[in-house]
Amino acid sequence: MNVLVLVGSLRAGSTNRQLADAAVAHLPEGTSATVFEQLADLAHYSEELDHDDALPQVARDLREAVADHDAVLLVTPEYNGSLPSALKNAVDWVSRPRGASSIAGKPAAVIGASGSPRAAQWAREDGVKVLKVAGAEVIEDTVGVGSAFQAFEEGRLSDGELDAALGDLVGRLATQVRRARTAA
Ligand SMILES: Cc1cc2nc3c(=O)[nH]c(=O)nc-3n(C[C@H](O)[C@H](O)[C@H](O)COP(=O)(O)O)c2cc1C
Repeated sequence: MNVLVLVGSLRAGSTNRQLADAAVAHLPEGTSATVFEQLADLAHYSEELDHDDALPQVARDLREAVADHDAVLLVTPEYNGSLPSALKNAVDWVSRPRGASSIAGKPAAVIGASGSPRAAQWAREDGVKVLKVAGAEVIEDTVGVGSAFQAFEEGRLSDGELDAALGDLVGRLATQVRRARTAA
């Protein structure tokens, strides 16, 4: 099993990147994870670009990456009460072509970290919503880390209960992939 990780913060030292690493550490043995590193270079979605002869290479890479992975983990900060545009743009690209999108039926989960105690709740909710509308099989429960600048010690969440919740969510994602494979 392999998981594609989409991290919505593009900055070095991102707490969401640390959260992504903490989640990946919980993946079952034999599971690999890849962070899609080109989100900053992904063009804004445009239907004019969404043709074989005009498709930007990064959009093609993203679609192929989603298709080649068993599950997607969306890791989101909260920008003005919602997802950062980099993540929404990524979901928009993989939601097309209509009827043949790489995200359709893909198991997915959403986690997020923000500097405020609200733990990116609105962004997580919006992440679930847009993935669902795009056709992914999203786990409704999410895990959020509040006061994120104080939440990590040596790459791990210092709150053991929160770390356990993260492990539980990642385990559920792995189970969902196994079920989808059995059903196929
Ligand atoms: C444009 C912008 C808007 C933000 N809006 C919110 C917000 O609505 N709610 C919130 O809790 N934090 C907000 N923040 C603060 C982020 O939670 C904080 O920068 C967070 O750590 C970003 O994640 P990162 O550490 O992974 O970069 C905002 C930050 C930026 C840059």
